[in-house]
Amino acid sequence: MLILAFEDYMVQAQRLGHTLGVAVQKVFLHHFPDGESLLRLPTSLPEHVIICRSLNQPNDKLIELMLCVQTAKELGAKRVTLVAPYLCYMRQDIANQAGEAVSQQIIGKMLAGLFDDVITVDSHLHRISKLNQAIAINNAINLMATDEISDFLKQQFEYAVLLGPDAESQQWVSTIAKKIGFDYSVAEKIRQGDKQVSITLPEYDFNNKPVVIIDDMASTGRTIAHATELLLAAGAKQVYVVVTHALFCGDAEEHILQAGVKKVWSTDSISHSTACINLDHLLAAAIRKIL
Ligand code: R5P
Repeated sequence: MLILAFEDYMVQAQRLGHTLGVAVQKVFLHHFPDGESLLRLPTSLPEHVIICRSLNQPNDKLIELMLCVQTAKELGAKRVTLVAPYLCYMRQDIANQAGEAVSQQIIGKMLAGLFDDVITVDSHLHRISKLNQAIAINNAINLMATDEISDFLKQQFEYAVLLGPDAESQQWVSTIAKKIGFDYSVAEKIRQGDKQVSITLPEYDFNNKPVVIIDDMASTGRTIAHATELLLAAGAKQVYVVVTHALFCGDAEEHILQAGVKKVWSTDSISHSTACINLDHLLAAAIRKIL
């Protein structure tokens, strides 16, 4: 077995390789001036290859993934596993207006055609409950980082209130709260546009309490920023944030900090300055299970 990793996920891939006792090699990547990508893989590959790359900034990465897996197969790989802790295009699960592409199903079908196994973490599954409803292969595995986040929070706080900023976050925030014995509640959110959300806090006394917002991802940061403003207005002592996937597009991080968040933490699913919760043991256990 060999792990093939791209530069942007190299540190995490090496941690995973170390935990599994599997060698890691880098995929050489060159971007031509016109935006096309050139990939070069090690010329001798074992039967089972694991390709590691998180799929934030997805459009280039999906093409490169396709080039990578096809080349790996030409170079001798018989089984190719994708480890993509952040899986893109999972949010568009219906056509909101007639004529819209249902990206979750289309990208899912593409990945199912390319890979024997797909492993991801805290994927945004809303109207479907299982990843193989989008990626129709037996080993389409959606792991939860809730144990890792729980352990982390236990080290940071003796007590805090957890808040899920919208209905989708209930699954993560409730699991974490039960595990560490903290109170939790879930807000209601309506998204009006990419950067416009309205949030209603639940009936709960946040006064003078430290609150941790838990979500699967921060993209524009508007969800977290708005929830923070409401929490501080409701008297919360401090507001902290833990997200699995630190996308932080554009001015997201600045926006969150301006709203008054004291500290942001994330998993290492995406390389980011807030990443401090490592996923290698979670991913390694899932890989061992499918062998
Ligand atoms: C959506 O339901 C997700 O769980 C996140 O809350 C959302 O994607 C965050 O997006 P943004 O940071 O752009 O508000």
